Amino acid sequence: MAEFEPVLLANVGKDESWTRRVYEETGGYQAVRKVLGKIAPKDVAETVKASGLRGRGGAGFPTGLKWTFLPQNHPGPIYFCLNADESEPGTFNNRVLMEDDPHQVLEGMMISCYATNCKTAYYFMRCEYPLAYKRTLNAIKECYAAGYLGKNIFGSDYSLDIFLHRGAGAYICGEETGLIESLEGKRAWPRIKPPFPAVEGAFRKPTVVNNVETAACVKHIFDRGVDWFKSIGVPPDPNNPRDAGSYGPKLYCLSGHINKPGCYEAPLGITVTDLIEKYGGGIWKGRKAKACIPGGISMGILKADEFHCPLDFNGPGKFGCLGLGTAAVVVMDETVQMVDYLMNSARFFSHESCGQCTPCREGTSWATKLLTRIKAGKGRLKDLDLLAEIGDTIGIMPGTTICGLADGAAWPLKNTLKKYRGELEEYIKRTNPDGWANTEPVRALQLLSIH
Ligand SMILES: Cc1cc2nc3c(=O)[nH]c(=O)nc-3n(C[C@H](O)[C@H](O)[C@H](O)COP(=O)(O)O)c2cc1C
Ligand code: SF4
Repeated sequence: MAEFEPVLLANVGKDESWTRRVYEETGGYQAVRKVLGKIAPKDVAETVKASGLRGRGGAGFPTGLKWTFLPQNHPGPIYFCLNADESEPGTFNNRVLMEDDPHQVLEGMMISCYATNCKTAYYFMRCEYPLAYKRTLNAIKECYAAGYLGKNIFGSDYSLDIFLHRGAGAYICGEETGLIESLEGKRAWPRIKPPFPAVEGAFRKPTVVNNVETAACVKHIFDRGVDWFKSIGVPPDPNNPRDAGSYGPKLYCLSGHINKPGCYEAPLGITVTDLIEKYGGGIWKGRKAKACIPGGISMGILKADEFHCPLDFNGPGKFGCLGLGTAAVVVMDETVQMVDYLMNSARFFSHESCGQCTPCREGTSWATKLLTRIKAGKGRLKDLDLLAEIGDTIGIMPGTTICGLADGAAWPLKNTLKKYRGELEEYIKRTNPDGWANTEPVRALQLLSIH
């Protein structure tokens, strides 16, 4: 692997890094100039396919391949939605890019729109990001003023308009069809698929939805080439025929009980230990690590003795997690009780479930009630079996839920119960010494305080 040189965060920290002036002084808008009108859109898409770029929004779907799902020779319009909702707890990599280098994101978006024959794009940003909004809006205005957006951009015969849209502040606005519904002015209820957005998306037209960091990577593929991109990261696991490899630089959000929390750029495949030690300055107050979430709250949990886990698209799955997710690593030290982590995660998902699917709506709220009761010292050992059962029936029964939120809610439950069962049993016995063995029903506690 070649020596790693950060590119996504290269401008962060420079004075006025968010302006067009600084962006262009550091080589900005050269990649898009190489592409527009000079390379055919389908060849741009082929190059992205050849780079092995996988979406950074959570699922890791190959970006170039996703673009080829658009109908060929469609009379249009085709829409491109940039997913800047970023509501996964622990995740703030998109925010850093949008606040500190908004032109980098716009350049990647321009190339992606050109490749997909899209002339109208929507930039969907969560409303909780006022600074990112201000700087992105300013960057878009700067682009229109310079002829980089609008008609015949960069002097080519390609025209593109970008509309900045603020989301309403719900986790489900980040799910791609929830995003599209919200964009259309409706409640962000995910749509049943198929049809997938590539066939019928925004305003019932073919639509591509890509994440902010994915778009930023596209820009660098055309600045530095496919070989450069593929020289970073890890090739496919020969034992896993479904692994497409994990190539390119990646932003990791490191938070929780560490000395230097922040957003860091490293190659895909870095281990949790290296991320914590080399970038995060170790665990705070000299304490011991207990666990971490490898990629946002919906991915499940790694124990401290699993910190050799590589953070690529394939790595966390080998340790019983759902996947790499958004690569947001939340570290917990030895003082954290797993009952608190589980209760908070269940409460989050129950609050954010849109309520369309029964397993998700009822399962997440049932898990929250049980965990609140356990936390309050009224738990029974059999509640843990009940929780495990809920973890199995929300989400993993294929086809029972419309979107992936239910899977994301099930994973922390399932693998924490597997990995920390002893601690949870001990908590129940300690806090409810007379009643833990009781198999009689226990009345639910009032949950008024949690919503
Ligand atoms: C409940 C839920 C929330 C999601 N939130 C986000 C989000 O905030 N940002 C994002 O880019 N993708 C999010 N996704 C993934 C998107 O649906 C979609 O896969 C992604 O935006 C595609 O972009 P990519 O291919 O560039 O990764 C979410 C998915 C689910 C199921
Ligand atoms: S899985 Fe949950 S969040 Fe997703 S559509 Fe169904 S109820 Fe809504």
